[in-house]
Amino acid sequence: MKIRASAGPAILTGLLSILPAVGLVLLPVAADAATGPATDGGPGAVTPLAALGPPPVPADNPITAAKVELGKLLFFDPRLSGDVSLSCATCHDPAIGWQDGAEVCRGYPGTSHWRNCQSIINSAYYRKLFWAGSAKSLESQAPSAARGGVAGNGERDVMEERLRQIPEYNKRFKKVFGNARPELPDAWKAIAAFERTLVQRDTPFDLYMLGDKNALGPAELRGKELFEGKARCIECHDGALFSNEKYYNLGVPPNDVFDDDPLKQITFRFEQFAKGVSEDLYRRTKIDLGLYYRTKQEHDIAKFRVPTLRYLVFTPPYMHNGVFFTLEEVIDFYDQGGGDDHAKLLTGTATKTPVLRPLGLADDEKQDLIAFLESLTGEELTMEPPELPRYGVFE
Ligand code: HEC
Ligand code: HEC
Repeated sequence: MKIRASAGPAILTGLLSILPAVGLVLLPVAADAATGPATDGGPGAVTPLAALGPPPVPADNPITAAKVELGKLLFFDPRLSGDVSLSCATCHDPAIGWQDGAEVCRGYPGTSHWRNCQSIINSAYYRKLFWAGSAKSLESQAPSAARGGVAGNGERDVMEERLRQIPEYNKRFKKVFGNARPELPDAWKAIAAFERTLVQRDTPFDLYMLGDKNALGPAELRGKELFEGKARCIECHDGALFSNEKYYNLGVPPNDVFDDDPLKQITFRFEQFAKGVSEDLYRRTKIDLGLYYRTKQEHDIAKFRVPTLRYLVFTPPYMHNGVFFTLEEVIDFYDQGGGDDHAKLLTGTATKTPVLRPLGLADDEKQDLIAFLESLTGEELTMEPPELPRYGVFE
């Protein structure tokens, strides 16, 4: 195993502090940490749990009320898709936790998606988006959603012309961005600004951390202690977001919905091809290769970004392939030390994180842990779809 030149000093320091200087690259515990900045999982410093602050806002896309209002209309507007049948809200439905409730998400008509749809509540906090972190910002994520073949499948110029043929949008874009006509990049900025308002910072957990000691009951507090201690969840789900934003293979079992659904199989194969997987792997893999698509490093196969644990109550099913329906199933999975290393079965290279091992949780401890997880969700954040502006004809 090699440490790539790009491995940052922080990672190396982290490694050196936990390993004797000799044998650095041989010990299995270094497996996650030694794979460069993109994968840098494995043992390291843990950020204490904390109340969530306001989300970061990029300097070139400040939030204004008019921009958020425009972004909301666009988020609900199916004209930002190929056949005007899908808006962002079709898959990120406010009534279903701002996701779609399916194990594997629906797709553009005639296709299926191939991953579980993420909730966009609190997505404003992530530095990298998607299950394998392939988008860098909300601004750059939105066009890939509207244009991607198995999501919006919209043609750029056609979508832009549609916006230009809507008088109300002409007015609103001009007011917010100053350009004579709606421009698609501005549409993505407006949607991103809207998404930055979809955050939840007043959960029982946040209130507790801000000083309301009655906000969590005894079961939740026992669960918190387990989370930070015996159950070791905090090793990856840390800080205010409950995610260290690193990538791990937990051995999540494959979802057999792929086996008997031709549409899902087509998308799955298409994605291997589109992401530049070798002919050999393309033919053999039955699992989502995760971070591997970005790095093409075998040691990144089946690694996924640690998701936040906020708003979970409204967002089952869980994991990148939606294979677990309840928090009980998730806890049982961790209690067993995770699942089989499907990456190793595929290529011979083990990638499952050494952090997971059997926890020996008693039934009441599992219940306490779930009570704590539930305290990371507050009120349901619902929203009525707005009335969309109509097309008009220009002189
Ligand atoms: C066909 C269903 C579908 C549509 C339409 C869709 N999405 Fe998504 N969205 C998904 C799925 C599935 C994922 C996870 C994809 C992955 O990880 O590869 C996702 C992921 C995301 C994420 C990343 C969240 C995270 O935790 O990293 C954001 C943000 C997002 N979508 C916003 C949007 C916006 C904005 C639109 C409209 C322009 C949109 N989506 C349209 C299905 C959809
Ligand atoms: C080694 C790092 C690591 C540890 C330790 C860990 N998790 Fe995770 N967790 C992840 C990753 C990575 C995912 C996404 C995996 C995937 O989809 O393949 C995840 C997913 C989840 C999900 C699903 C979230 C969603 O939106 O689908 C829940 C719930 C969860 N973890 C809870 C816990 C709990 C509770 C513990 C402690 C018992 C724990 N995790 C320990 C890394 C970790």
